[in-house]
Amino acid sequence: MVWPIRNNEIRIVKISDVRSENPHVKTIFFRDEMCALSKPGQFVMVWIPGVDEIPLSISSIYQDGSSSITVAEVGEATRALTGMKPGDLIGVRGPFGNGFKVIDGESLIVGGGVGMAPLMLLINKLIERNVKVTVVNGAETRDKIVFLDKLEGLSRLGKINVYFTTENGSYGLKGLATDIAEEILRSRRIDVIYACGPEGMIRKLYYVAKVHSISFQASLERYMRCAIGICGSCVIGKYRVCRDGPVFTMKELEEVEDYLGLIKYNERGEKIPI
Ligand SMILES: Cc1cc2nc3c(=O)[nH]c(=O)nc-3n(C[C@H](O)[C@H](O)[C@H](O)COP(=O)(O)OP(=O)(O)OC[C@H]3O[C@@H](n4cnc5c(N)ncnc54)[C@H](O)[C@@H]3O)c2cc1C
Ligand code: FES
Repeated sequence: MVWPIRNNEIRIVKISDVRSENPHVKTIFFRDEMCALSKPGQFVMVWIPGVDEIPLSISSIYQDGSSSITVAEVGEATRALTGMKPGDLIGVRGPFGNGFKVIDGESLIVGGGVGMAPLMLLINKLIERNVKVTVVNGAETRDKIVFLDKLEGLSRLGKINVYFTTENGSYGLKGLATDIAEEILRSRRIDVIYACGPEGMIRKLYYVAKVHSISFQASLERYMRCAIGICGSCVIGKYRVCRDGPVFTMKELEEVEDYLGLIKYNERGEKIPI
């Protein structure tokens, strides 16, 4: 007997609200029972009618059953999605993937650009568990920082420590998120690092975590079609990012070190440099 994969059915949901995070990124709210059960780091396949279906992380969940995705406009599908309004319909499948394993220890969260989306849900989960959280949120420029107000609000309430970095120094510290993460690790005890963002950043943090012998979990992105482990388009070494990830531990990353931040496959299945 073949059991149905319930969360793989497309559900049509109505957008209830759209908020701008910055000129390039929007958070889109909707209500869906299964999405409201997502673990931090899990993602959904979002169908934009007549355009495409793309993977996006769940960025928040509220007690009234609504959830959100936070989308950076980078191409056709994300442009169409960020142009949608309350009342418009989208399709969702999922949530998929393993998500972050929440550990009770002093946490360092490192996010690059819209990589902060799944980390925002994780931060809220860690706060609920009274874990001490330090966040490093890196972006190229001030207008590309995501969740600036939310993170500053949490910091003012004493719930997290937050550092912003921009490559041109237009906000926060000038430099890369990895530079300040290394400084933090040199100056105090951290038990676990959680990361999501450009894979070059993940590769660097992977080596930093290794040198400091700190537990490390990183969420990776690969081209995805099916999201249920069948098509093979999302492979990294021996793993399928949609089923085995998208969050990988230090031990798993060691097994794919030759690919991490170096090689991926495009939509035609060709190997391309990252
Ligand atoms: C697990 C996962 C979670 C993600 N979470 C977020 C998120 O929370 N917010 C966010 O803004 N982005 C997220 N992304 C990236 C997002 O899926 C791409 O930006 C989006 O698919 C681009 O589509 P496009 O048509 O606008 O751009 P295109 O012009 O088609 O492509 C732009 C870039 O996006 C990549 N891309 C295109 N289609 C896919 C696809 N089906 N799967 C993976 N990558 C694709 C391309 O390889 C290219 O590098 C996530 C990706 C993955 C794999
Ligand atoms: S997207 Fe098809 S196997 Fe991962």
